[in-house]
Amino acid sequence: MTLYLDNAATTPVRPEVLEAMAPYLERYFGNPSSHHEVGEAAASALDDARARVARVLGMRAGDVMFTSGGTESNNAAIKGLVLGSGKTHLVTTAIEHESVLASADYLARLHGVEVTYAPVDSTGTLTPAALADSVRAETALVSIGYANNEVGTVQDAAALAAVAHEHGVPLHLDAVQAAGWLPLAGRGADAVTVAGHKIGAPKGTGILAVRGRLPFEPLLHGGGQERGRRAGTPDVAGAVGIARALELAEAERADDTARASLLRDAFVARVLAGVPGARLTGHPSQRLPGTASFVFPGINGETVLLELERRGIVSSSGSACAAGSDEASHVLLALGIAPDDARTAVRFTLPHRFTASLDAVADTVVEAVSAVGSRG
Ligand SMILES: Cc1ncc(COP(=O)(O)O)c(C=O)c1O
Repeated sequence: MTLYLDNAATTPVRPEVLEAMAPYLERYFGNPSSHHEVGEAAASALDDARARVARVLGMRAGDVMFTSGGTESNNAAIKGLVLGSGKTHLVTTAIEHESVLASADYLARLHGVEVTYAPVDSTGTLTPAALADSVRAETALVSIGYANNEVGTVQDAAALAAVAHEHGVPLHLDAVQAAGWLPLAGRGADAVTVAGHKIGAPKGTGILAVRGRLPFEPLLHGGGQERGRRAGTPDVAGAVGIARALELAEAERADDTARASLLRDAFVARVLAGVPGARLTGHPSQRLPGTASFVFPGINGETVLLELERRGIVSSSGSACAAGSDEASHVLLALGIAPDDARTAVRFTLPHRFTASLDAVADTVVEAVSAVGSRG
């Protein structure tokens, strides 16, 4: 039997989510823009899903847009809020997901936007002081990952929002990895990204919430759906699904977080004790409860992944997007880890509802690394 410990890459769809979605794929299939009974049933499900999401995010229903996932939400937030503001300075960090970095790069190349990468320390933490040094009055947006997808470091979102707001600048939080582990409401974010497939909803579902009346330039032009901010007939079943998944994740969050943190700490300690030279990457305590990420200097990370899979454990080198590439992770490099060491990275990410001991898994990791090491 295989144990899947790559939940930061994606998760299976939860039965409760499938069950909530099914009626909107079959019986209530209408177009929510249609003014007949079939369409109105779909429109009311969409309204309901929006209100449920808004409650979890601490936003208003009208702030919530449904998108195709984290990548689209990050593109829309960054391009939409920067271009909507009429200002030409963006602040982010070098450890963000590619969808953030590439959106920033696009704005720099085609719209003359100046991008400042606020420095993170060796744990991947952006301090409020470092952010304060990077923000200025003409900054259009600060875009920060709430929790890093490769090393799991969690940022103090509320403190960073306060710094941005002191300068009158809105904060976008990429909460793709945070959802289900960290509180999303009350952090002071003006825009929030969530991806359905990381929390038990289908791939191709996402959320972007943008507070109030912040000027926003849409990515998709066409019909006036989503209050003119995202054209195209909405995926009603997908919206119902992600809303259900987010509600469940929020209801279970305290429980999941407490349990996973203990299991993860024991796992990390056992791996570090068993593998000479192994290092935990990211922040030692301010990290996602479900993430344990290591470098094993001198040992090829991709070979360890193959060896682990042969022994029944599925994990990854850090980011699904970079999997299989020989390039050292941009996140680990930004944390000051040497390129050769960065290429030895292995990341284990637990599902939210995990309950089993990881002692045997840690022992298997120790054996796998030792087997790869002894082969040279
Ligand atoms: C932090 C972060 N942001 C954005 C994304 C992109 O989300 P999606 O896969 O839904 O496009 C990911 C995906 O891994 C992520 O981890």
